[in-house]
Amino acid sequence: LMDRLKGLGGKEHGIRKVHVIGAGVMGGDIAAWCALRGFEVTLQDRELKFIEPALARAAALFEKKVKDPAKRADTSARLRADVEGAGVADADLVIEAIFENLEAKQALFAKVEETLKPGALLVSNTSSIALTELRAGRRDPARFAGLHFFNPVAMMPLVEIVQHDGVDPETTRRLAAFCRAIDKLPVPVAGTPGFLVNRILAPYMQEAILLHAEGVPGKVIDQAALKFGMPMGPIELVDTVGLDVAASVGRIMAAFHGQELPAAFTVEEGRRGKKDGQGLYKWENGKPVKPD
Ligand code: 3HC
Repeated sequence: LMDRLKGLGGKEHGIRKVHVIGAGVMGGDIAAWCALRGFEVTLQDRELKFIEPALARAAALFEKKVKDPAKRADTSARLRADVEGAGVADADLVIEAIFENLEAKQALFAKVEETLKPGALLVSNTSSIALTELRAGRRDPARFAGLHFFNPVAMMPLVEIVQHDGVDPETTRRLAAFCRAIDKLPVPVAGTPGFLVNRILAPYMQEAILLHAEGVPGKVIDQAALKFGMPMGPIELVDTVGLDVAASVGRIMAAFHGQELPAAFTVEEGRRGKKDGQGLYKWENGKPVKPD
């Protein structure tokens, strides 16, 4: 890891204003975290009603982390909802965190590029889509990369800086400096599907889903993993990440290995996991209910 970080020193990132697109669990929490660490942030989604839950989670985070009321008010003021996407124009870093669909992301990037400042960095929080595919058609591929956070954003220190052939090393260096400025640990990784962490985590989650579909209770699987030393059981993790996200990562990884996504990956609307209150477990007050 330290070898990979060589040459990524320096504190200069030239980023003052961050614009995040997609106010789901990841985008919303990334925006809140950047505001907490002192950046001006605009958070874009199609309608205010999609941004409001993220602002409520941000308020809870600020309440917990910023004790001084005046400082907390300043932190909240740094995070602004943006339905029009006007916040792209003065952003030094634009983070895309919409759903995992190549065409949707490509269309969004083209729109962003209409108002993106020259020299600004454009990154995707994609979990698994190959960067070479996302890079195709970019106006400024040298300043385009992946910046992959993990869920829950406030708790997970690692951030993958996902590379592709055309990325300028200065972009990677600036992104690494930015990660350190928000108290995260940057790791540059290759842009092949799954990058580094999901190459490991996706098969782990997939096997847990298969075991569960074979009839092994979630609680048994999770307890075994916890006793083994994992911080969270894989069934709880799948629900936390979302079955929809796990399935899209799984599908892309399976294609990479010349396989198909196992049928056990069923994703039903309203049953995607923690965010719906129902997944492989039922969720109450942010906790899974694990029946005996
Ligand atoms: N959001 C914010 N804070 C949270 C949280 C959440 N969802 N869940 C827990 N916390 C906080 C708690 O409030 C507590 O904070 P405190 O110390 O200030 O009181 C702290 O975390 C510890 O909480 P707990 O004691 O209840 O829980 P744990 O010790 O089990 O830690 C965890 C929680 C850090 C989430 C741990 O269970 C963990 O590391 N789980 C694995 C997470 C993981 O693997 N994430 C990667 C998912 S894959 C992904 O995101 C990539 C995508 O591409 C698929």
